[in-house]
Amino acid sequence: MIAVVGATGNTGRAVVKELRRLGQNPVCVVRNVEKAREVLGADAKAVVAELADRTSLEKALQGVTSVFVVTGHNPQMAEQQNNVLEAALKAGAKYLVRVSGGRAVVGPNAESVVGRGHHAIEERLRESGIGWVILRPGLFMQNTFAQAALIKNDGKMVLPTPKDLPIAFIDVRDTGALGARILMDPAPHVGKTYEFTGKTTNYGEFAGVFSEVLGKKINYVQATLEQTEQALKGRGMPDWLVAHLVTIGRITERGGFSTENTEPIRTIVKREPITTRQFVEDFRSVFS
Ligand SMILES: NC(=O)c1ccc[n+]([C@@H]2O[C@H](COP(=O)([O-])OP(=O)(O)OC[C@H]3O[C@@H](n4cnc5c(N)ncnc54)[C@H](OP(=O)(O)O)[C@@H]3O)[C@@H](O)[C@H]2O)c1
Repeated sequence: MIAVVGATGNTGRAVVKELRRLGQNPVCVVRNVEKAREVLGADAKAVVAELADRTSLEKALQGVTSVFVVTGHNPQMAEQQNNVLEAALKAGAKYLVRVSGGRAVVGPNAESVVGRGHHAIEERLRESGIGWVILRPGLFMQNTFAQAALIKNDGKMVLPTPKDLPIAFIDVRDTGALGARILMDPAPHVGKTYEFTGKTTNYGEFAGVFSEVLGKKINYVQATLEQTEQALKGRGMPDWLVAHLVTIGRITERGGFSTENTEPIRTIVKREPITTRQFVEDFRSVFS
């Protein structure tokens, strides 16, 4: 049996949807049953567990062989995901597949608490004895949901990245498709770290795709990192998250998300990665 921890999130719900398409009915580990019903459907096998509560995780993972983990990021992420790992080991699970950050973000001395968190989780995972697989997706196309109000109301995107800097985005549905296939047959993937993206583009071209699909001009406006930091603080975000997002802006500018690698999607999912055009067409209602 397969379990998805963080099943109501962007990536988690994509993994669940793909697994169901492939004929599986995974255990969806969630903290909010109403949200699970809304985003996963009433027939999803939802089990409630809070990441801080190892006992609830142990109960949720009983009888599970393979666990997919994507829990978002926060300063407690290492403790939370270690709880998942310990619960998986106790339940006798054989495989754990996790979504990590990009190579430029993760490390023992990473600038962001999130990069250090992913590193700590992976150190523990590698020595745990479980059959692990690490996924390192590119920058999410779904991050542009945060620009939806600006696109809708003001016809612009405002970000700190140069408009012509190469960026290899990924749609989280591709991460879902890849994760689901690995979960269906994990053994050949054990001990592997997959870095994967869609085709390289840039924010100027992405704004052009929004213009064409939405039928109105969407301008790309580059803000400074200082302006971005002030805007994020103005939205009431916690300091650690503002610092993380500013760090991501800096890493992006240095080319940390510029390397394309479409091979894992092409060879494991056996199709081309989703394009920015497909993404905007599929989520047109969010932006218009
Ligand atoms: N954004 C990017 O461009 C990017 C690029 C590469 C890698 N990543 C990595 O991708 C991950 C984020 O993926 P995502 O956007 O799919 O995540 P997400 O949408 O934030 O989903 C997180 C999931 O974890 C659940 N969760 C959070 N705290 C919990 C708690 N205390 N107890 C139980 N469940 C809890 C959430 O539940 P609720 O739905 O109830 O909130 C949700 O289901 C991060 O690790 C990030 O570093 C992001």
